[in-house]
Amino acid sequence: MTGRVEGKVAFITGAARGQGRSHAVRLAQEGADIIAVDVCKQLDNVPFPMSTPEDLATTADLVKAEGRRVFTAEVDVRDYAALKTAVDSGVEQLGRLDVIVANAGIGNEGGQLLDLEENLWDDMIDVNLGGVWKTVKAGAPHLIAGGRGGSIVLTSSVGGLKAYPNVGHYVAAKHGVVGLMRTFAVELGQHSIRVNSVHPTHVNTPMVMNEGTYKLFRPDLENPGPADLEPICRMFHTLPIPWVEPVDISNAVLYLASDESRFVTGVPLPIDAGSMLK
Ligand SMILES: NC(=O)c1ccc[n+]([C@@H]2O[C@H](COP(=O)([O-])OP(=O)(O)OC[C@H]3O[C@@H](n4cnc5c(N)ncnc54)[C@H](O)[C@@H]3O)[C@@H](O)[C@H]2O)c1
Repeated sequence: MTGRVEGKVAFITGAARGQGRSHAVRLAQEGADIIAVDVCKQLDNVPFPMSTPEDLATTADLVKAEGRRVFTAEVDVRDYAALKTAVDSGVEQLGRLDVIVANAGIGNEGGQLLDLEENLWDDMIDVNLGGVWKTVKAGAPHLIAGGRGGSIVLTSSVGGLKAYPNVGHYVAAKHGVVGLMRTFAVELGQHSIRVNSVHPTHVNTPMVMNEGTYKLFRPDLENPGPADLEPICRMFHTLPIPWVEPVDISNAVLYLASDESRFVTGVPLPIDAGSMLK
């Protein structure tokens, strides 16, 4: 049996670890070559350790272990020129582009919107919304030029469909991603390019599994850990689980990237264990 995305090339941001790495590996398992980019350094005001060059190298090794080719670049998604250089070089090396997964994102300090510092707002919007726009702006011309259509998947969040207190800047950016997704779907449909978004609930990655989140969710405890987070996270869901794994999002991305979803466009897809029902 051939792979579900056999022979396609996918451009993935935030690919050094977490969901982005999982998407790269899952798509490679099903036959895709990968253009993997990530900033691979600590950004200001992000209160948990970010990815490293070694993380991106590990992603590349995992893709190669699936027998697929990989092109990597250390790029900040806020830098359109660098993104364009990376994707242009990746396409030159791998020969084509079929799929874009705009996954890179940050979390930073929370707070009520009226109290939020301007720099936290600016960083959030620049990375989690502006970075998604720039990723598609850099990659989509290759989909159009290829003349074979394509699939674009934008990573939003349940926070892109519903409001939560104390993370209004994240909620605003992730709602904005839905606006980008719908507009790109309208504008690129004529080229047979489909555009959809994924909306994960809590995912078991360093963005959630860190000291800052433990303290945010359990201010009642002095030294909270993952086990203390679990009962709180469970309360968000109708299914009896606290969080999902990166591969659960990757399987949704794989479906949207593959021709199995060939007439699906403009869809915000929750992978949320029922979170939207509450
Ligand atoms: N973890 C969750 O619970 C959760 C839930 C819903 C949505 N999301 C979204 O999923 C996406 C992936 O997050 P994750 O859970 O894998 O977290 P993660 O922190 O493990 O991975 C995010 C990756 O994006 C990279 N990145 C961040 N800013 C970047 C920039 N400016 N330029 C290039 N790369 C950058 C990081 O270096 C990191 O490798 C994010 O958009 C996040 O907002 C996460």
